Amino acid sequence: MNRLGEILGFLTEGDEYVSGDYISSRLGLTRTAVWKYVKQLRQMGYAINTLKGMGYSLKSAPDRLYPWEVERYLRTRCIGRNIEYKESTDSTNALAFRLALGGAGEGTCVIAEEQKAGKGRLQRTWFSPFGKNLYLSVILRPRLHPSLVYPVSFLSSLAVHNTLVELGLEPSLKWPNDVLVNGKKICGTLLELSTEADLVRFVVVGVGLNVNLERAEMQDDIRSKATSLHLETKIVYERARVCGMLLGNIESYYDLLKSKGPVMLARMWEEKAKIKGKYLEVTQQGEVFRGIAHGVGEDGALLLDDRGKVQRIIAGDVSF
Ligand code: BTN
Repeated sequence: MNRLGEILGFLTEGDEYVSGDYISSRLGLTRTAVWKYVKQLRQMGYAINTLKGMGYSLKSAPDRLYPWEVERYLRTRCIGRNIEYKESTDSTNALAFRLALGGAGEGTCVIAEEQKAGKGRLQRTWFSPFGKNLYLSVILRPRLHPSLVYPVSFLSSLAVHNTLVELGLEPSLKWPNDVLVNGKKICGTLLELSTEADLVRFVVVGVGLNVNLERAEMQDDIRSKATSLHLETKIVYERARVCGMLLGNIESYYDLLKSKGPVMLARMWEEKAKIKGKYLEVTQQGEVFRGIAHGVGEDGALLLDDRGKVQRIIAGDVSF
């Protein structure tokens, strides 16, 4: 945790004042340095009162995904222990990819308040307005053959699914990597990878989860198809908490991937998605496939039985 987070650690919300002397002696800083940090925190949106002879008191914190805010809810060993926070970026996936190329370690997480060029599947864009949702990307370095890496994308949707269940919602999963609530998309995940001949160098797992987004704030093309946590429950969520919970679930499923293997993850996804035996229509590069779902292959492909002929769909859009 950096100095700002450490100082906030002394200022728990409430009416109690903490003296500048106390903070400076505990952190080995001068009182002037403490005062400068407090000033910086105020500029970042924290309401901090000062009372002569008493010290500082925190009145309110901004709804931001600052690393120390997320860390308050983090119960992980590795995932999210190194957070790269941006108010604005092109795409958290793109930034995480650049960091991974530069050697960033496993578990490094890029979090942004907004994305100027958020990436969706199949070259689409991901609507990413400021301060409303979660846009995050985690760097993983699983020791896997590239042909077995696909189920890592199931890991992220399973983690989101679990997080939503923990928050009291009833989500469903849609192939390949959507999470829905009441039939509307609340989350999309995007896996990007870098490979060598026989080895995955790293994977970037990107998650876009609609948290406090209002219907009026949505773009016209997604308004009827998308939802958010807030729209489903009328609650305004503390995004840092949702983020901490999600990172915890990502770590749990990543541990499962490492202990039980990628096939197990594909089977878990298949079961949670209740996909087997469902009639589906899938569009892949303009071509429509219809049939009964047999499940997903070990490579993540959707297996669709079209009158006795099993089609493997690699990338497409499912309409029920
Ligand atoms: C989809 O098309 O459903 C996938 C959307 C994935 C969006 C997330 S937001 C965080 C991360 N950064 C990106 O640019 N995309 C992913």
